[in-house]
Amino acid sequence: MTLDQLSAGRFGHRIFEAFASETSGPLERLQALRRELDRAGYREDQVTALLGLPHLLALQPEHFHYYDRWVLPTTPLADLVRLFLLDLPLGRSALEAALSPDSVNLLLELGVIVPSGEQWHSQVHLYCFGELLLATDTGRYSPLWPEGEDLPDRVMYIGYDSVGLGCAAPRSPSRRTLDLCCGSGIQGLVAAHYSEEVIGVDINPRAVRFSRFNAALNGIRNARFVQGDLFEPVRGTCFDRILANPPFVPQPPSVARLLYRDGGPTGEDLLRRLFQEGPRHLNEGGVLSITTDIINLGGLEERILSWSEGTPPLDVLVLVEKALPIAGYVEGHSRHLGTASGRRAHVRALLDHFQTVGITTLHGGYLIARHLPQGTPGAYQILDSAEAITHPVAHHVETHFRSREALRGGACARARVGLAEGIRFQLEVISGPESEVQRVQIVVPGDDFFPPLEISEGIHQLLRYVRKNRPPWSALATENSRPVLEELLLRGVLELHPPG
Ligand SMILES: C[S@@+](CC[C@H](N)C(=O)[O-])C[C@H]1O[C@@H](n2cnc3c(N)ncnc32)[C@H](O)[C@@H]1O
Repeated sequence: MTLDQLSAGRFGHRIFEAFASETSGPLERLQALRRELDRAGYREDQVTALLGLPHLLALQPEHFHYYDRWVLPTTPLADLVRLFLLDLPLGRSALEAALSPDSVNLLLELGVIVPSGEQWHSQVHLYCFGELLLATDTGRYSPLWPEGEDLPDRVMYIGYDSVGLGCAAPRSPSRRTLDLCCGSGIQGLVAAHYSEEVIGVDINPRAVRFSRFNAALNGIRNARFVQGDLFEPVRGTCFDRILANPPFVPQPPSVARLLYRDGGPTGEDLLRRLFQEGPRHLNEGGVLSITTDIINLGGLEERILSWSEGTPPLDVLVLVEKALPIAGYVEGHSRHLGTASGRRAHVRALLDHFQTVGITTLHGGYLIARHLPQGTPGAYQILDSAEAITHPVAHHVETHFRSREALRGGACARARVGLAEGIRFQLEVISGPESEVQRVQIVVPGDDFFPPLEISEGIHQLLRYVRKNRPPWSALATENSRPVLEELLLRGVLELHPPG
């Protein structure tokens, strides 16, 4: 059973049928709906303020009823939040207090809202991310959902991985950008702001309809979305950027396949293909940005090298978020199952499977690879980031690649070196009965690229000198100091400035 079959059987139509082909969709009426949502205050800052949350990722389905009964007032905006984020039904009068009759009819025609007795339920969540509003499928907390199940064609919610990739992928101008595994279209629609043209690809036709709807709702006209298997619909085309949030959860072959989640036995089925085929679809200097759960981080460099063998060389930057303890990971990925016995069996199957295929560690992370000219030596760098990237760090990623280039090409020899903006030193004195130890950490409050980094007193003094004097790189980089300076440069603590 798929969600498309379920809703066709129940309501007589598939959702967003009007977006089944590329050139369709009631664009003007959707623009009017978007304006009404804006006027009602249905935007990230106002919705999070109303819910009292730091960001929408903190909204947990288990707490939907709490927000309804304890937190939200009875206003048109709060009712829209109930309908589009909390899986709660609204009566016609509440709907029409928030939206015009034409917009309500449009939502009915598109299958976004469906009748439930005297009330209406939404078949989608409408998530706010920056300026974007993004429809995704609801989940098992919705009364419309089949008891306890997850279905293979579910269009994925906006998760930490979705937001993190949106924040980490470079945003400088791109002529052509490819969003692989587009789901709701979030990555491609973010990219539409810095790209002349975006193509999104998903194997799931339901996801393609959602992406097209989301483009139209947000008034984005330079992004198109097509169905297909990874690079197959864009064979022979090269891009300045490729973005991918592929399914990456390792699964035993016996487990029912969810398109948005399952990445094969080690979770790397699509990741491998992205490194095999991605570099050949990049223009020189182009960047492939991927989010994934990383298995066995220690062997990642060798795996990337073997997957990308024969492709153009790459500068690879790996941003590592938090470690994901195996016990919590298998439990979290079994929650969608309807019964306690089903969940227990799934946890056991996953644990056995992880042992069989040799998965010993898991980390959340981002793999960002820049295509280099033929003959240039590639590079590989792992950096720790914040536990979860929820604020833009793309400018740091671009600086990292520029610094790598300057080191490789010798441009740093002519540059002056300074301290990156926002860097602070935090001193902690630990006093014992007989001695005192001083610890120095680099901290950059509110910047997800820089987790606290402990440094020695020697480096602390060096960095203070650099902040004050902006010395020439050539004067600072002696044979002894060069490795540590290069490390600090590639970490983004130091930055290069033109001479003079
Ligand atoms: C983890 S979701 C990502 C959704 C969205 N890009 C985001 O960042 O939230 C993975 C998506 O990959 C799609 N997918 C799975 N296998 C695919 C394949 N072989 N080719 C293209 N898309 C695929 C799924 O249908 C799903 O929409």
